[in-house]
Amino acid sequence: MSGAYFVTTPIYYVNASPHIGHAYTTIVADVLARYHRLRGDDAFFLTGTDEHGDKIAAAAASNGVSPQEYADRISEQFRALWPELLITNDHFIRTTDAQHVETVRTILQKVYDAGDIYFGEYGGFYCVGCERFYTEKELVDGKCPDHQTEPEYRKENNYFFRMSKYQDWLIEHIKKNDNFIRPERYRNEVLAFLKEPLEDLCISRPKTRLTWGITLPFDDAYVTYVWFDALINYITALGYPQGRKFSQFWQSAQHLIAKDILKPHGIYWPTMLKAAGIVPYASLNVHGYWNIERTKMSKSLGNVVKPLDLKNKYGLDAFRYFLLRDMVFGLDANFSEEALVQRINTDLANDLGNLTSRVLTMATNYCGGKTPAPPSEATGDDTLKLAARRAMVEYEEGFANLAFHKALMGTWGLINRANKYIVENEPWTLAKSAEGTLRLREIMYNLLEALRIIAILISPVMPLTAQKMFAALGITAPQDFNQAKAWGSLAAGLPMQKGEALFPRVKYEDNGSTGNPNGEVVLKKEVPLAEVAYDDFAKLDLRVGSIVAAEAVPKSQKLLKLRVDIGGEQRQIIAGIANDYRPEEILGKRVVVVANLKPTKLMGQESCGMLLATDGKEGKLSLIGFDKEPLAGAKVR
Ligand code: MSP
Repeated sequence: MSGAYFVTTPIYYVNASPHIGHAYTTIVADVLARYHRLRGDDAFFLTGTDEHGDKIAAAAASNGVSPQEYADRISEQFRALWPELLITNDHFIRTTDAQHVETVRTILQKVYDAGDIYFGEYGGFYCVGCERFYTEKELVDGKCPDHQTEPEYRKENNYFFRMSKYQDWLIEHIKKNDNFIRPERYRNEVLAFLKEPLEDLCISRPKTRLTWGITLPFDDAYVTYVWFDALINYITALGYPQGRKFSQFWQSAQHLIAKDILKPHGIYWPTMLKAAGIVPYASLNVHGYWNIERTKMSKSLGNVVKPLDLKNKYGLDAFRYFLLRDMVFGLDANFSEEALVQRINTDLANDLGNLTSRVLTMATNYCGGKTPAPPSEATGDDTLKLAARRAMVEYEEGFANLAFHKALMGTWGLINRANKYIVENEPWTLAKSAEGTLRLREIMYNLLEALRIIAILISPVMPLTAQKMFAALGITAPQDFNQAKAWGSLAAGLPMQKGEALFPRVKYEDNGSTGNPNGEVVLKKEVPLAEVAYDDFAKLDLRVGSIVAAEAVPKSQKLLKLRVDIGGEQRQIIAGIANDYRPEEILGKRVVVVANLKPTKLMGQESCGMLLATDGKEGKLSLIGFDKEPLAGAKVR
């Protein structure tokens, strides 16, 4: 069933450059928009910038430019960032857009005409950082709980929105609609707040104090309070009141925010809508904060994490995956680069990357580079079919509850099951005998079909990787999710293209980290290298070796068993290069051998020596060789 789906991010203040927090909300909105498009929904995805008010005027003044110039500059940084993160927003709204100014004035006039805006005097504690008055009870030790600064006491004549009038209606509405504010902790937080009498909202600022705002339609001497202005963006963008988009999308509105702006979205906005005669949004979806090394991110602490830096360093899909996988939506999460690297090396390089490259390599070798047809005499092996079904159920449930980490865990359940399926079924053994052909075809079909389903499931989060996987399978991105989900949809005879590794392993450079749980990831310590005396160096017996035989070590993904000629003597060397070289590809290669290394046993096999290698392209090892062909056994000096 397809339908309309409207998803929004907060419109970000233009007083600071985008950071990982802004990127998170926007990527989540993008993932939801992509997921809904995949399901055939008509999605409209909105983001933008919030440009009026004291805060922006102050930032512009301290930068020596006009508020408009300043807003243009920072808004452009947000607008330009989103395509870099492959954000597929349908519209980018600015509160300085003429259409928005007009919509805000229309709503103000409507609410004023209905008698829900009145003129009165107000005195209170005002925090400039938050752009709002605080009640004494809300202050912590007399300070703003968010900014830890003492608010100023302000008294002025202003316009007020009769918010209190809608308190009972709002409580009722929240109670009747489980998903109106979610997760539940935030719903409870708003309901707890509503236990106290709701005060009316001051919605104007005298121009004597602030001119950077939208002039009230009924009093030229005032501009609109920035929150009353900003929240309305969500309907301006749909062309309220007449727009076709408004009637199509508004009732499906899903707002995404972090917990910092729960009150304006959970209380001001629904009551404003009610007063303007507009039905409330469908859901307010509230997430926690990304903290950096367990502290709040802030410019003054100098710990602001920039999304583009991470994209450029680790790749976009890895960054997007990490954000969705490591935060439980609703709770705070801790960002560390080390955790990101760990995810890349385990979930992406080891699990997904290895599965993809193993399956495609085997399919190329055993199926002639074309997707096989499932044999009609199939043995009825539905291991992966069932695993895929389970993954899809967990995925759908995860998305329905905004538990993106669970949706991804479900998908990884299928990835890990497929990796295990390879080990259990040993396609390489079947490939050696003619009797194994039918079974081999069935196994390869199942694995390729699993890859196709995995690519579909990851596509909202990792669009680039999904694209590479579709291309490798010789198919295009599916148009109809419900059809594409059906097991057995992969057509036979499609030309496969084994591309480069999806996720090269990454080394993390840090001062203190150690350890790698599975022996694959090397977290590089920045330890100064010890000096070695020449005499010690001379103890190394480095020789030219010629590889005369190579084969995989049974049950090992990483090791190759080599026979290496080092001049009149042949050695068995077990080298961890199976992910980097195929046995047939290194036969005859001249390599550098550490010939006097103490023998050791690896996976039960004796290894007498070691090959020297370095990091090559795409995280692959590159064996050290020679530009001219030397004699096997020659000393390397
Ligand atoms: N302009 C208002 C929103 C008006 S919406 C009608 C505003 N802007 S903001 O630039 O401060 O953005 C706040 C939002 O940015 C949060 O609600 C959240 O979406 C995102 N984040 C900012 N810092 C964050 C973290 N540290 N962690 C997660 N998200 C955070 O408030």
